[in-house]
Amino acid sequence: MLIKNPPRWMLRENSATDEHVYLNRRAFMKGVGAIGAGAGLLQATPSLGAEDPSASLYPVKRNESFTLDRPITPEEANTTYNNFYEFGSHKRIYKLAQHLKIRPWAVKIDGHVAQEMTLDIDDLLKKMPLEERLYRHRCVEAWSMTVPWSGFPLRKLIELAAPTHRAKYVQFETFKDKRMAPGQKQRWYPWPYTEGLTIDEAMNDLAFMVTGAYGRPLPKQMGSPLRLATPWKYGFKSIKSIVRISFTSRKPVSFWEDVQPSEYGFWANVNPAFSHPRWSQSTEQVLGTSKRVKTLLYNGYAEEVAGLYKDLPQNRDLFF
Ligand code: MTE
Repeated sequence: MLIKNPPRWMLRENSATDEHVYLNRRAFMKGVGAIGAGAGLLQATPSLGAEDPSASLYPVKRNESFTLDRPITPEEANTTYNNFYEFGSHKRIYKLAQHLKIRPWAVKIDGHVAQEMTLDIDDLLKKMPLEERLYRHRCVEAWSMTVPWSGFPLRKLIELAAPTHRAKYVQFETFKDKRMAPGQKQRWYPWPYTEGLTIDEAMNDLAFMVTGAYGRPLPKQMGSPLRLATPWKYGFKSIKSIVRISFTSRKPVSFWEDVQPSEYGFWANVNPAFSHPRWSQSTEQVLGTSKRVKTLLYNGYAEEVAGLYKDLPQNRDLFF
């Protein structure tokens, strides 16, 4: 595939893991802080969920089983530094992402299920047991954040979908609308964005469907109204703004795997010992701080997920 405008993580090693990007971000945040002091942070950080029709559902009760070993990343850092290629191949898409139309919003469930269905997002939110979880998030670009996500276990949605015995994988798909999302005019990317998990991964307790953050509905730039969080995997697996969930017998080929299979695989489990072809994965820059910390196997969730992979070869394929 011809890549005319490579994403940031396809840049050379010295610019990919990006102290300078991070430091620029800090300078930017300092500016935001200065504005915030005078005019209120809300003006500098758009769409904090105020107009979302699900706003009355939040905040939801925190599930204390999911805790962190580090402070929560400041909200304004997480809502102004995003990867959402539908709105551009840089980190400052939060204003453009406000064009995302989040109602009406339907999620189609199809493939190997007893009965295909289309769920309205507000009906789904009423059906599902919403809770808050504190999760780490580790981008393949070697930066990380911590987020109080609100949402529900993916397992609950799978139970509702009732897949048949032929379903071995779950494929997720983002909306496709190039008038709303100008990034989708870039024809060298295989739109729509798709991602996939094995059924066993999807049924794992950590696999979480995210509908909110920081005690509010999910900001558009973070993938409103429905995204995935699989915190033991690199962040590109956490697909945003999902409109379709399909149960398949064949392993899906996901967006980045299609773009560059030698760099972005299906499993994408975090492992500091296996470098990306163009940069090391041994450490990560913690957003909102000046810290660079050691990356942990499965992003610190080995106890919960290592068993999923015990019968697979423990080689590089599992970790990129
Ligand atoms: N989902 C869609 N639809 N489009 C994207 O570009 N980027 C992925 C993931 N989900 C992406 C996506 C990547 S690379 C990361 S690191 C996370 O979203 C970033 O999530 P955040 O912006 O909330 O930090």
